[in-house]
Amino acid sequence: SVRFSHEETAAEFPIIPAVDGRSAADGSSFTRQTGLTFYDPGFVNTAATRSAITYIDGDAGILRYRGYDIADLAKNSTYLEVAWLLIYGELPTPAELAEFDEKIRRHTLLHEDLKQFFSALPHTAHPMSMLSAAVSALSTYYEDSLDPHDPEAVEISTIRLLAKLPVIAAYAHKKAIGQAFMFPDNSLSFVENFLKLNFGTFAEPYEVNPVLVQALDRLLILHEDHEQNASTSTVRLVGSTEANIFASISAGIHALSGPLHGGANEAVLNMLGDIRGSGESVQKFIERVKNKERGVKLMGFGHRVYKNFDPRARVVKESADEVLKDLGVSDPLLDIARELEQAALADDYFVERKLYPNIDFYTGVIYKAMGFPTRMFTVLFAIGRLPGWIAQWREANTDPGTKIGRPQQVYTGPPARPWPTS
Ligand code: MLT
Repeated sequence: SVRFSHEETAAEFPIIPAVDGRSAADGSSFTRQTGLTFYDPGFVNTAATRSAITYIDGDAGILRYRGYDIADLAKNSTYLEVAWLLIYGELPTPAELAEFDEKIRRHTLLHEDLKQFFSALPHTAHPMSMLSAAVSALSTYYEDSLDPHDPEAVEISTIRLLAKLPVIAAYAHKKAIGQAFMFPDNSLSFVENFLKLNFGTFAEPYEVNPVLVQALDRLLILHEDHEQNASTSTVRLVGSTEANIFASISAGIHALSGPLHGGANEAVLNMLGDIRGSGESVQKFIERVKNKERGVKLMGFGHRVYKNFDPRARVVKESADEVLKDLGVSDPLLDIARELEQAALADDYFVERKLYPNIDFYTGVIYKAMGFPTRMFTVLFAIGRLPGWIAQWREANTDPGTKIGRPQQVYTGPPARPWPTS
């Protein structure tokens, strides 16, 4: 049974009887997915929310953005097209997409003072920390667009975030490797520009590689949203206080940085490197995982939601082979990854526990082949996830049912205690 802490809350969010595992009120799979038999839009008692953006069925391995299957989007769209879809609800017309793209190109420059901000940070800083700090700092430069109730302000902040996050990310990369920051080249597409900002130098002209561009575009699409994961619910929670969108996204970047969330792609590559470095066989490693040896974990396997193949992992796996072949890269870590995947999938221990490879298992190998240092992997996840965070923030911000978030607490401390008198 469900206990409400306030009478009026119980009246406002009545228990909706489950019908065939579906919520009677909205016909969605809310009940089946959450096991909850009522709906609570403000995280008031249950930490549940409603959203019309992304659909996931973890048992069937289905992921859809606004109704479109992730594999179709990854093959047929671009990052910006999918960003539009997530944020505005429909695929853009060619004219809408061109206008959106043009606006983003016009906002890529960072304020010169913000560039100085990077100088104050140590070059050893993790790029995710630099990213969240700089995004937080954006709210100090754009005080004109902080009002969450002003649609024009929200619109310009949306464009600024999409335009500037890749530039901030590339500057974090350049800072870490001690190279000069490049200027954005607005004659290039979103992904081309990002690659040039990361890998271009003032010493020689940068040549765009269409294979890399297509592969990165696809990887970013696959990361664009994933409903109420830790970082997205953080963005919504912070946004529910009417904090500005830059502050909310910065908080989301912090949440993403953990190794159990976005940091997992970095952890997978470190694990593959450790296996290679130790010279131990993949089978031996698998046995150590099964014996639950301290500190030995099979990173990139299993997912809180998917009890089947992560549908994104299927698409990335296809891309990994294409990209590495096209780039002419042969990476021993990829061989270890393949061996590990096959060994785990053939082992009852993992199959019974429904531990299938997730998206993070393959992405790191591709990012590495593209030339990104390991510490940039989670930053790439953040750029991918940005449109989803924006869409979710905007959805919550315009939903009249949104209340300031306040997850329910189950008190486990001592009962009332008499004050010690002696
Ligand atoms: C994600 O894409 O956010 C991750 O797979 C984590 C999650 O959804 O829980």
